[in-house]
Amino acid sequence: MAKKRLLSGIRPTGSLHIGHYLGVLRNWKKLQNEHECFYFIADWHTLTTKYKDTHELNQNTIEVAKDILASDIDPNKCTLYVQSAIPEVAELHLLLSMVTFQNWVERDPTLKEMVRLLAEDEEKAKEEITYGLLGYPVLQTADILSVLGESVPVGKDQVAHLEMSRDIARRFNHIYKTDLFPEPQHLLTETPSVPGVDGRKMSKSYGNDIKMEDSPEETLKKVKQMITDPARMKKTDPGNVENCQVAYKHYEIFADKNTLETVKKECHSAAIGCMDCKTRLANIMNDYFKSIREKRQSLKNEKEILEILDIGNKRARKTVKETLHKVRDVMKLKNWD
Ligand code: TRP
Ligand code: SF4
Repeated sequence: MAKKRLLSGIRPTGSLHIGHYLGVLRNWKKLQNEHECFYFIADWHTLTTKYKDTHELNQNTIEVAKDILASDIDPNKCTLYVQSAIPEVAELHLLLSMVTFQNWVERDPTLKEMVRLLAEDEEKAKEEITYGLLGYPVLQTADILSVLGESVPVGKDQVAHLEMSRDIARRFNHIYKTDLFPEPQHLLTETPSVPGVDGRKMSKSYGNDIKMEDSPEETLKKVKQMITDPARMKKTDPGNVENCQVAYKHYEIFADKNTLETVKKECHSAAIGCMDCKTRLANIMNDYFKSIREKRQSLKNEKEILEILDIGNKRARKTVKETLHKVRDVMKLKNWD
């Protein structure tokens, strides 16, 4: 059986944090052996919210490429590319926007959530929304359909977007009497929710994140800031791992069963203080990321990174150009080249 074609993108927010690794890159690494994978750095998607401040975008793209390559994603097994290197994706976005109803994009739950986050005053918040942001799910659909992607690994929060992608693909196929586009299916992947050191969701914008590339010392420093069971005021107070929302949560992610049992016992009996417990946690995390960090260190030469991306861009663009040729054909648009 032919391998399914799979597509996934990640926004270049600068060097990535461990939540990105656990939620995205770890899955990419596994999936590259099971599917025909197209992985890309979604720099245009960043513009949907950060269009005013673009000076870091190119450097951030390189930093993300380093994190991807350090995570053992093999550019020979998959096609790794940069979204903005493929102008035909923008053309497809335009063409798909013609068949996408306004109310499909307006009822997007992610957009509604964004409106809520932007301001308490919903009307004011709506004024912040640009045409580009509104079109975010259509651009995402163009990403997927430009390579005729059949499968898209997503967390639960992205399922609605995939549904819209299927609606758009189906409507396009129906109108132009074609079966060119597959109806892309979501592949639910394990994306553990990773709290930042302050207990909120881990995010660069909150300044509560631990980077994949952080040194063991930086990691230890940040782990020591993690909140623990608030009932443990003194070292002699017994604790409860259930109430240790950040440090123990990280233990659950990174430690093996035996260690978890030990931590539980020592916490409940106050045999260990939180600082020592967190030092042990930092050691476990540093072990986990050791080889990834070493590999990232060895990727210092940016020219090499750009060369790797260049090869991927060319390969992806060839596929996308073929798709667009067919799209123009079925739409009875002239293929000028
Ligand atoms: N929306 C994803 C993010 O915010 C990135 C992305 C863009 C994507 N296009 C995609 C993911 C297509 C999967 C498929 O990080
Ligand atoms: Fe959390 Fe460890 Fe402190 Fe218990 S001892 S509250 S598990 S940090």
